[in-house]
Amino acid sequence: MTAATKRLFIKTYGCQMNVYDSERMKDVLAPLGYTSTDTPDDADLVLLNPCHIREKATEKVFSELGQLKRLKAKSGGNMLLGVTGCVAQAEGEEIMRRQPAVDLVLGPQAYHKLPEMIARVHRAAGERLETEFEVEEKFDALPLDRQVDGPTAFLSVQEGCDKFCSFCVVPYTRGAEFSRNVDAIVAEARLLIRKGVREINLLGQNVNAYHGTAPGLEGGDDWTLGQLIRHLAKIDGLDRIRFTTSHPRDMDDDLIEAFGDTEKLMPYLHLPIQAGSDSILKAMNRGHTAERYIKIIDRLREIRPDVAITSDFIVGFPGERDQDFEDTMALVERIDYAAAYSFKYSRRPGTPAADMFSQVPEEVKDERLQRLQALLRDQQTRFNQSQIGKTIPVLVTGTARNEGQMAGRTPYLQATHFEGGEELAGQIVNVKIEKATLNSVGGKLASMAEAGV
Ligand code: 5AD
Ligand code: SF4
Repeated sequence: MTAATKRLFIKTYGCQMNVYDSERMKDVLAPLGYTSTDTPDDADLVLLNPCHIREKATEKVFSELGQLKRLKAKSGGNMLLGVTGCVAQAEGEEIMRRQPAVDLVLGPQAYHKLPEMIARVHRAAGERLETEFEVEEKFDALPLDRQVDGPTAFLSVQEGCDKFCSFCVVPYTRGAEFSRNVDAIVAEARLLIRKGVREINLLGQNVNAYHGTAPGLEGGDDWTLGQLIRHLAKIDGLDRIRFTTSHPRDMDDDLIEAFGDTEKLMPYLHLPIQAGSDSILKAMNRGHTAERYIKIIDRLREIRPDVAITSDFIVGFPGERDQDFEDTMALVERIDYAAAYSFKYSRRPGTPAADMFSQVPEEVKDERLQRLQALLRDQQTRFNQSQIGKTIPVLVTGTARNEGQMAGRTPYLQATHFEGGEELAGQIVNVKIEKATLNSVGGKLASMAEAGV
């Protein structure tokens, strides 16, 4: 049976996990005949996939839904409207109540059920709310096909979080930690490689808490992320491995050592610390001190001196005093980051921090964020400039904005552009870096590189 072509528009907001989820939803819906369109105007199915972590996502969703409701009316009711992701998980019932034009609401653990739910809506019967699903089921039920876009791809290996940082909604919306089996990961990696992927970014909310089973392999009842990476590195055709996002508490020696013994593992680590003050880290329930974090980074730099370190920061967590913030600034000076994300603390109702006394005034948060971001921008620019004069292997991802130029990524995940032809797309080439700005480096093609770093 061939399904008729239907148009699918997904609007994704927020984190990489959400971008990844949207891609998987497209994969799940492809067998039903849905192909992507980049406007909601004539779509048969519109899905909003918002992020709940720090944005005032809910209000944005409702205003978006108000507009979509009019489009839906114009379509004579043919358009289906859905809200997915963490917002749906947390506020599903509220969404259905406030905006009756919404046909389906489903949480991140249930998107493999999309086809079934759409069928149900079409028959105008059955439950419309679908947020309680076992994560195991999610991984198993996904079709083993992936649409790829260029030579790099995400591969989900772990879901959920048991850490319960006091500011964060993820443990409530994404559920408990769960790791995917090694054989399923290897199968998906091989599929991606067959489709032209050369760089895989292993994805998980707490990716270094990975503890999957590897049936038939040595010690196969509980593998660490380090073991998984070394195993994947044996696959021919896979040239670069990355992983994100890690937690300092799960940064074990084996994983740190992988940066020294596994050439395909890129010299780049995103390791959020959130704050530099131990009393704030404690109130955040992070389970580590600033000193422990510094030790991890120092050890990693001994093993892989050129490693690029990035992080996430929250300023203005409840109770953050001037001195606590100065501790964060000092920590940033001490680590010297290649890049980092920084946010003002935002209250998430239902999380412990939301009810803490001494919330920090908005203007204080603003001021602190500005100071922190100025320092981080300096460090990022200096990191990019430190590549000038070096010849670096760049994985070419596609054409650059400027005519005649190609774009790619260094091992340190820097956006790179250089003069070159489109035949280089998907290749790893050596680029001599000649200039650097805050957000990218640029240079001249030196030669075709051997695979890897
Ligand atoms: N307020 C501000 N930032 C937050 N993050 C998570 N929850 C909050 C919140 N309530 C940030 C953290 C995390 C990143 C993904 O989002 O820095 O690492
Ligand atoms: Fe949220 Fe903390 Fe879990 Fe990260 S480790 S997802 S910040 S609870």
